[in-house]
Formats: sequence, structure tokens, C-alpha cells
Amino acid sequence: MKKYVITSVLIGSVIVLSACKPVDWAQQQWNSAFNDSKEESEKDKEKENNDSKPNESQQDQPPSDTDETGEPENPQETDLPWLNETVTVSGDGKAIVQNLDDMLIVANKERNLPEDYVPADLVTPNVPFPFKEDLPKKKLRKEAALSVEVLFKAAEEQGLELLAQSGYRSYDTQVSIFAYNADQYGEEKANQTSAQPGQSEHQTGLSLDVTSPQVNYELVEEFGETKEGKWLAENAHKYGFIIRYLKDKEEITGYQYEPWHLRYVGVEHAKEIHERGITLEEYLQKP
Ligand code: DAL
Ligand code: ZN
Repeated sequence: MKKYVITSVLIGSVIVLSACKPVDWAQQQWNSAFNDSKEESEKDKEKENNDSKPNESQQDQPPSDTDETGEPENPQETDLPWLNETVTVSGDGKAIVQNLDDMLIVANKERNLPEDYVPADLVTPNVPFPFKEDLPKKKLRKEAALSVEVLFKAAEEQGLELLAQSGYRSYDTQVSIFAYNADQYGEEKANQTSAQPGQSEHQTGLSLDVTSPQVNYELVEEFGETKEGKWLAENAHKYGFIIRYLKDKEEITGYQYEPWHLRYVGVEHAKEIHERGITLEEYLQKP
């Protein structure tokens, strides 16, 4: 059942992606996450009213969490790729992430990506970068790339100046980045800001570091105080992104506050995560 739902969503996304312009596609995502959930809550209310007047046969039934097929009624409860169900432990005791192409994939200090994992659908979004070279770090997975184009357009309409600094990174690139940071700042400090190879979600192609001229195109905490940083914190979820490393959540994420690091999860999940003010780890912890 779970596999079927995931496969259907993936096939559906590919069809939609190949048929739509980015703005249309993002609008559809928005509608399905926000308008449908409004309709659903109206349906829920209607259902609640009906449920509060049990008919004779219902009165005889014991309360149940499952429908007649035995499946739990709330699909969210079964369909999220829970953290403890999406890793296997390798011979050397390392937890290896299994749901590699899932938009809700989690790589962190406890969850390693395979060294040879490269997403199959990397593309370069049409957004401004503060450099001209055609580097792999310009790339993102297709769905994230389309969404970031729409996010950048919305920011521009607000008079904001965002630039994309760094998206996809291979395992080998992360080896060099971590080694450089450890050399410059010492391993302990490097571990607070930079992921070890295999543990960076930049390798998933779903993360993008963004910046602005106000902070001299750097990736610094002050970015969170700029109008661009504040707008992102309030609005990124509308385009399917979350601020992945939140202030005061360092114990959970394992990293310092990074107001510049966007992570694509899709609008439905981003809305929920944003409204609850939680991290991706908390969202995917099985209740
Ligand atoms: N700065 C984030 C944690 C990374 O290196 O992936
Ligand atoms: Zn980042």
C-alpha cells in the first residue's frame, strides 16, 4: 500500500512536471496543499456532525482506528517515511539511508547517504547566482529547481534580492569541504557547521544555500536579520521549502542555526513543519 502510494505520487509528479510551466506547477502544488485541505476540513466538519449522530448499526460497533480494509484511516499516520523505518545498519554499524529518492529523505549525523548516491534528475534552476561558471553546485533535483524558480520570482516581486549560492554537492566535494573547514577552524567547530561526507543533505539535491548583497553574498547568521532572510522564514514554506537548521534546535539537527539553508520537502509537508515550528527530524519521528 505504502509503496503503491509513493509510486503513484512519483509517476504523478513526473507527468505533471513534464506538462507544466514552473509557475503553473507550483500553483497546482499550492492549491492541492492549501485549498484541498480547506475543503477537507469542511468535509471533516460535515463528517463530525454526522458522526455525532450514530445510526443503529454504528452504535453496535466498537470504536476503531481502521477502515473496513484494515488500513488506518489517517493516511498521514502510515505514509510518512519514519526515521527508524528508512535506514539499515551496515556491517561497520553505520546507519545507511534507504529512501534515497524520497522528497522527505533525511541525511544527518546519524544517517549516511551511500557514497555513490547521485540524484538522477539534477537540473540547473533559472535563478541568479553570484558566479558565472557552470558548476554542479548550481543544480537541484527537478521538482526543487522548479519550485525555487517560483520562490525567487515571488521574492523579486517583493523587491527582494536573493541569490543562489550552493545546491547539489557530491560525496567527494563534501570530503574536500569538510577537510577544508576542519583545517581552518578545527574539527570540533567544523562539525557544528559542516557535514561529514555522506551526511550532507546537499548530496540529496534538495537543499540550496541562498544569500543576498546585504551580507556580501556570504552564508552568515546575519542573513536571518535581512529583509530577504525574514521573508524566507515567513514564506519559504509556500513554495515547498523549510529553513532546515533552526535557531534553538541545534540539539536536534546537530548543526548551528543556518537561516540561509533551504530544504525542499514539498508544499504540504513544508506548511505543516512551518506551522508546527519543528525540524524535519521531529516531523518524521514515529509517534
Ligand atoms: N552546512 C550543512 C550542515 C552541510 O554541510 O550540509
Ligand atoms: Zn547548506
